[in-house]
Amino acid sequence: MKVYVCKNYEKMSAFAANYLAAQVIIKPNSVLGLATGSTPIGMYKELVAKYQNEGISFKNVTTFNLDEYIDLPKENENSYYTFMHENLFDKVDIKEENINIPDGSVENFEVYSKEFENKIQKCGGIDLQVLGIGNNAHIGFNEPGDTFSNSTSVVELTESTILANSRFFESEDEVPKKAISMGIGSIMRAKKIILLASGKGKAEAIHKTVNGEVKPGVPASILQFHRDVVLVIDEDAASLLEESSYERV
Ligand code: F6R
Repeated sequence: MKVYVCKNYEKMSAFAANYLAAQVIIKPNSVLGLATGSTPIGMYKELVAKYQNEGISFKNVTTFNLDEYIDLPKENENSYYTFMHENLFDKVDIKEENINIPDGSVENFEVYSKEFENKIQKCGGIDLQVLGIGNNAHIGFNEPGDTFSNSTSVVELTESTILANSRFFESEDEVPKKAISMGIGSIMRAKKIILLASGKGKAEAIHKTVNGEVKPGVPASILQFHRDVVLVIDEDAASLLEESSYERV
């Protein structure tokens, strides 16, 4: 696990955008795994600027998003479908048919989840997976638990995640309680992973992820077992790490 510490959120976002752009330049038909949430917004903004000013093209890129709320219409302003279209997809040349966001409104989640996983494999697997991290060290919506889930499935959100995500909704009651999420196994099958974290609120989760024991109670800790992971974090998120465990960029 390689940890890069950037001075602030802007520098973190620029570094992450360069990392993704490099992937797309080297392999224009890359399969990207994408995350939502506050953390990657700056990175998406930088990628849009690269599309507009530097000719980085997404026309042969395929994307798979990590997760989506269940029972929130995709037109809702808080759906991850809306988030991805507003922050990236509507602003670059990606083809709509190459976008894959889990559908939180299907009838049969078991069948749908299998199809979603199969589609990832059919596309050759994820070349580069982007992750954020929850205050409780969740990745995707894989909450702390007793086991690591292997593949896409329906998950119950924990109180702490519902509370954290209520900042986007009118009230805590409006936050969906369930989501469909790629599993820990789906994430670990990606060829490369980049995890972003910003702010003091993430410092403890980052500390446990980098230096702690690998256990399902700290979902992101499993990344210690992946052979190509970079953590790109700002100084606040790195504040509990020993200087020797990271490189400043
Ligand atoms: C979002 C996702 C989540 C977030 C995490 C951090 O697709 O999978 O794991 O990355 O909850 O969210 P923010 O960035 O809002 O702190």
